[in-house]
Amino acid sequence: MSFRPPVRDDLAELPGYHSPQLDVDVRLNTNESPEPPPAGFQQAVADRVAALDWHRYPDRGVRELRSRLAAHHGGDHAAIGVDNVFVANGSNEVLQTILLAWGGPGRSILTFEPTYAMHGQIARVTGTGVIEVERQHDFTIDADQALDTIAREQPIVTFLCSPNNPTGMVEPRELVEAVLETVRPFGLLVVDEAYAQFSTWSALSMFDEDAPLIVTRTFSKTWAMAAARLGYLVAPEWINERLNTAILPYHLDAVSQIAGETALEFEDEMAARVARLVEQRGIIQARLGELGVEFWPSQSNFVLFRPSTNSGSTDGNAVWQQLVDRGILVRNCSTWPRLDGCLRITVGSADENAAFLDALAAILD
Ligand SMILES: Cc1ncc(COP(=O)(O)O)c(C=O)c1O
Repeated sequence: MSFRPPVRDDLAELPGYHSPQLDVDVRLNTNESPEPPPAGFQQAVADRVAALDWHRYPDRGVRELRSRLAAHHGGDHAAIGVDNVFVANGSNEVLQTILLAWGGPGRSILTFEPTYAMHGQIARVTGTGVIEVERQHDFTIDADQALDTIAREQPIVTFLCSPNNPTGMVEPRELVEAVLETVRPFGLLVVDEAYAQFSTWSALSMFDEDAPLIVTRTFSKTWAMAAARLGYLVAPEWINERLNTAILPYHLDAVSQIAGETALEFEDEMAARVARLVEQRGIIQARLGELGVEFWPSQSNFVLFRPSTNSGSTDGNAVWQQLVDRGILVRNCSTWPRLDGCLRITVGSADENAAFLDALAAILD
């Protein structure tokens, strides 16, 4: 066998990010939208793609999409302008770009666990240290402990996720404000708002050119465009200037730019889709309650729950497998740290949710 150069020592032991994609009828495991974007969107994208100059590089500055996003968020905060918006291939790439610029050896980020696993994963891949603070038993953050730890450890980036994946819970505004004030002398606060439109408030209302606050968003969930890989952030200009140093030239292809620009013309349809999912979320939570299943009240498009059988025993893994056997895939969190026995269901269509709830009731009976 020829010589195989070893990877970086710190990557050698690092497990990858895994989310099984099984071929089943009902896929409720990755928090996608159960509905595609409207037909009008698909036709408009197809028309514009047909007229594309394929031999030319895309707009390197992503100017049109960024200015449309700034206008879109004008209602959240009047001061948000085109230079406050940075767009990349999914919010994962947005997060990665932040850590390419601010992470690295000798630096650390701070997360509140359990939370979105990619925050820690991207940090480790970029050679950045990870400080994990435990959430309380009910998955809320203990504000005093949080502020003390941040002040003591002085991470370069503190991550909040609101609504938080996988718990679905929203961080209170007072906590986000207090964390921002605490990091101000030494670091950045990133609020990951991948699921913001499902919740009641957004940290975008705290935007300030002088505040070290970054809010990240995605087109993958509420905009029903996971296939396009499009995400963005809103931050002060002095932050975005640095991100543009770290990102590759022409990183965002022309088709993705067209898809994002066009999506914003279908905002009302997005809001109606979100309203339908919020209604379905209520139905799921009500039925879980009737079944006596422990769950965490969600302000997102998924619900974390811990099934237990009538005899009282909890084996999330066994319930997950029995759901798969019935053609229903949910996220199996049962062996994740701090989530013993838990599963997470993405809110699907009315039919998909009913199929899940009926199957769960039969399994637990
Ligand atoms: C909290 C959170 N942030 C970011 C992402 C990544 O989304 P994207 O598809 O934009 O990369 C996800 C995806 O599940 C998520 O749950």
